[in-house]
Amino acid sequence: MADNKQEKYSNPFNATFTGIMDLFRKHEPAGELKPTDRFDGKTVLVDGASSGLGFAIAIEVARRGAKVIMVCRSGIPGKGEKVKRLSRSDDIHMLQVDYSDLLSIRRLVAGIRDQFGKIDILICNAGLVPKKSRKTPQGLEEMFMVNYLSKFIFVNLLLKENCFRHSGSGHPRIIFVSSETHRNPRKFDWDSFGVYKEYSINKSLELYGYYKLLLTTFAVELSRRLNADEFKYSVFAICPGPINSNIGREAPKIFHPLMKLIFALFFKSPPRAAIPVVYLAASPDMENKPFDYLFLMSREEADEKALNPENGKRLWEMSVQLVESIWVLD
Ligand SMILES: NC(=O)c1ccc[n+]([C@@H]2O[C@H](COP(=O)([O-])OP(=O)(O)OC[C@H]3O[C@@H](n4cnc5c(N)ncnc54)[C@H](OP(=O)(O)O)[C@@H]3O)[C@@H](O)[C@H]2O)c1
Repeated sequence: MADNKQEKYSNPFNATFTGIMDLFRKHEPAGELKPTDRFDGKTVLVDGASSGLGFAIAIEVARRGAKVIMVCRSGIPGKGEKVKRLSRSDDIHMLQVDYSDLLSIRRLVAGIRDQFGKIDILICNAGLVPKKSRKTPQGLEEMFMVNYLSKFIFVNLLLKENCFRHSGSGHPRIIFVSSETHRNPRKFDWDSFGVYKEYSINKSLELYGYYKLLLTTFAVELSRRLNADEFKYSVFAICPGPINSNIGREAPKIFHPLMKLIFALFFKSPPRAAIPVVYLAASPDMENKPFDYLFLMSREEADEKALNPENGKRLWEMSVQLVESIWVLD
């Protein structure tokens, strides 16, 4: 089995094996989510909240007193009603988005600005592993857009519209759900950045890792830029570990019974996987930190490619150029 980081997640079998082995490795916890870690008076936005990890995060933050904005592509209003029931909170709100579509992201940001004004904590969780490449309305590749570029656009629009609350009760926190697969790619492929390319299921996981590398590099660079003069925002990235969620929904049907079994036996339930994410969002331990990366509940260095300022600067500039080009086409 692969023992070098570059090959650990290169195909579904290696990725599943690595994920399971990682769960059995001993991890030094960064801290602990306590019953006193609450969100009273705070607004928490979580996206991808219709399923898996995002749904579980929505319930946990609602139980801990937050006003919750569930941003979902599907499941409106049913999933929100379920979160209300399970959390015993009525302060649950829903907004619709399709992150593959630039127009939809703009509508989402307008909705947040007009209906809620400010948010305190943003949890960017939505993601997918498609079975093949698909074109977005603006001609980009869907996984590139949903797993990386939409987050660049979304966060920058929220910043532009002044949607983060700066108050006495702590700095805004921006959390990206990434993945240890971000360590997989050997290097950045700058030449094909944003260029639509055809692929099928055997390439999906490799590209998934690459887009998580882009996401993690963006998270580091975002923190660098937002906190250049003084500390104003906490930006965190996390790999929640393997989760018994719907992430494998596009895998060939023939593998579904086996995947269901392995996921149920070895992977974490969404409520358990949500704990470190909620820790990042709620814990006073995380105050005054411009950046941190957790794998499960333990603190790790993000991959050196993501931490490299030259890569961060290049990614940022190329993302701006790409967004401007699709904005014009729009
Ligand atoms: N599962 C794992 O083992 C694992 C491991 C490491 C990291 N992660 C990360 O954890 C995050 C959550 O995934 P999950 O495991 O909870 O999977 P999931 O159950 O499939 O949930 C994914 C969520 O993303 C949403 N989404 C997908 N495409 C979207 C789009 N175009 N616009 C808006 N929302 C969209 C889905 O909405 P719909 O329900 O409408 O499709 C769903 O709510 C992802 O970022 C994933 O990469 C997962």
